[in-house]
Amino acid sequence: MFEPTNKVIDESRQGEAISLKTENNGKKLYLESYGCQMNFSDSEIVASILIEKGYSTTKNAEESDVILLNTCAIRDNAEQRIRNRLRDFSLLKKKNPELIVGIMGCMAERLKSQLLEEEKLVDLVVGPDAYRDLPNLIEKTEDGTKAVNVLLSREETYADITPVRLNSNGITAFISIMRGCDNMCSFCVVPFTRGRERSRDPYSIVKEAKELFDKGYREVTLLGQNVDSYKWKNENETEKVNFADLLEMVALVSPDLRIRFSTSHPKDMTDEVLQIMAKYENICNYIHLPVQSGNTEILHKMNRGYTREWYLERIAAIKRIIPDCAISTDIITGFCSETEEQHKDTISLMQEVKYDFAYMFKYSERPKTLAQRKYADDVPDDVKTRRLNEIIALQNQHSFESNKRAIGKIHKVLIEGFSKKSKEHYYGRNSQNAVVVFPKENFKPGDYVDVLVNDCTSATLLGKALI
Ligand code: 5AD
Ligand code: SF4
Repeated sequence: MFEPTNKVIDESRQGEAISLKTENNGKKLYLESYGCQMNFSDSEIVASILIEKGYSTTKNAEESDVILLNTCAIRDNAEQRIRNRLRDFSLLKKKNPELIVGIMGCMAERLKSQLLEEEKLVDLVVGPDAYRDLPNLIEKTEDGTKAVNVLLSREETYADITPVRLNSNGITAFISIMRGCDNMCSFCVVPFTRGRERSRDPYSIVKEAKELFDKGYREVTLLGQNVDSYKWKNENETEKVNFADLLEMVALVSPDLRIRFSTSHPKDMTDEVLQIMAKYENICNYIHLPVQSGNTEILHKMNRGYTREWYLERIAAIKRIIPDCAISTDIITGFCSETEEQHKDTISLMQEVKYDFAYMFKYSERPKTLAQRKYADDVPDDVKTRRLNEIIALQNQHSFESNKRAIGKIHKVLIEGFSKKSKEHYYGRNSQNAVVVFPKENFKPGDYVDVLVNDCTSATLLGKALI
């Protein structure tokens, strides 16, 4: 899964512009990313492709020659946000008619040439598997021609492209391990926008992890829509690598390199993966396991491939094999025909699991999906909102309780940088992915520090480093 898809959407980075200083051909690129971690990771590939061709990047759209928006199509409100942003840029284009505005990512793939033809908002449309073609497409648009490449591929993994790390803290980085999704959850547009699932060569993944470690990075997050179905074999099929094998290969790069991954799928998450996590201290004790609903009938309509009981058994397996593992999830409220009783099943499942963290959404019908073709989007919006507010309130309690349980314990924290609120404090994360803030003393980003947590808010742990 992705997003925002999977997983873990860092809202604070949505729409953030990126900037890099390199030798250039005089052309300036302004790149803005929305949506899931995979999109942010893809933007680093796009920057690499264009910097190679002599572009430099700018954080100021007004001084750019090319504007690229890396977009998300997962929910309708994500797309509305992008449309508004494109309208801002069309004003810039009035001032500077030479400016090229392009759209890439999932919304580009979903709408294809519609944004060119109907609304004349963009000059260039490029889908997630066509980024190598960007220099050529940009060149085409320079004489006013519109350019589109939305071909999806069964092979493209960009394995040979070294991403240019954008707005990086120099400590944590994403590594894309696979692309696409074959699951066809009935609510989800991703299989249509990102195409068939394919896994990247594990040796190129390990190489990227090693290079990052040598540059001082201390944490990598392995990204895929459904990491548990990672599957690679060499040409003569003498070597096969599954996700558990890959985790082990990356964990062996260095005990000082932390490994995270996202997103897991409840139907595919194996005990073998959990055992590898338990075996290596540097594989973080944190799993994002989207449940979507606590009701088996709704899960069936969602085409998720598991029941409530199966999901709870997977949670029990996590707790059995990795007792101090944090668990987060994604939940959708108001999916087609969801009754009050079925919503209560989601609440009771949350009470049973007690997630440390959750991303929660109202169902948004997406064109072409199985749900859109087969089921009525018949839960009124005010009911979806009320159910969403109920689960958010419950999750806030659970997140706060989870943080309170961390008080009085020592946590190994990887320092990522200064706390947002004070230059006298650092922030980092513990293995369970909780943010920990503490006085900086003589430490530096990239250090591992034992922090005694003595207080918390619902979002952050507060403490003091043990020296
Ligand atoms: N409406 C609401 N939420 C959705 N998600 C995916 N598709 C939709 C949709 N149509 C959510 C799921 C998924 C997360 C990335 O986004 O919870 O896990
Ligand atoms: Fe995730 Fe399902 Fe969408 Fe695939 S189809 S990206 S598994 S929600």
